[in-house]
Amino acid sequence: MNQRFAVFASGNGSNLQALIDAVKSSQIRAELALVFSDQPQAYALERAQKAGIAVLHLSPKNYPDRESFERDIVSHLRQSRIDFIVLAGYMRLLTAYLIGEYPHKILNIHPSLLPAFKGAHGIKDAWSYGVKVTGVTVHFVDEQTDHGPIIAQASVTVDPGETFESLEAKIHAVEHNVYPRAVALMADNRLIIRDRKVEISS
Ligand code: GRF
Repeated sequence: MNQRFAVFASGNGSNLQALIDAVKSSQIRAELALVFSDQPQAYALERAQKAGIAVLHLSPKNYPDRESFERDIVSHLRQSRIDFIVLAGYMRLLTAYLIGEYPHKILNIHPSLLPAFKGAHGIKDAWSYGVKVTGVTVHFVDEQTDHGPIIAQASVTVDPGETFESLEAKIHAVEHNVYPRAVALMADNRLIIRDRKVEISS
């Protein structure tokens, strides 16, 4: 039976859209059963609703601490029988509690070649630093920021005269290709972690 997954997104949701499209075309053989956002105005929620996907918004402001916020999220995930989680522009750090509830079952995409340029401004930081090559990384989430075992990476060249905006557009285009492919491998149970190295079974 197909696995069921949730996408967590705080903003625009262009990666969510790529995942919605990939489920629709059967590139990803899993059910996108829930889209969660911590932001009521996130365009990601609208994209999900347009696609007929269940949405959930919870505001961290309504909880005394991060863990109780996540306990409520997890109870919804359990109700929706979610097998794995895909972070797509979710701008909030997960606590050890949520990560412990879904060990090796949470994926993230980061817009740089990790371990370079971790943090919330990966594209800007790489561009400002003047690198000639940057890219995107899909990885499992662990308790350190932008740190867990790497599933996939793709490089993007920074061309002469490249602006931040043009680089950002190139990175996003690559993300929309790489993330669905990585999630498809997850859906097919083909990702095996050995000593933080991710192998792809055939
Ligand atoms: C992407 O660049 C992703 O790598 C980062 O946040 C951004 C989200 O963009 N984690 P979108 O909301 O998917 O358009």
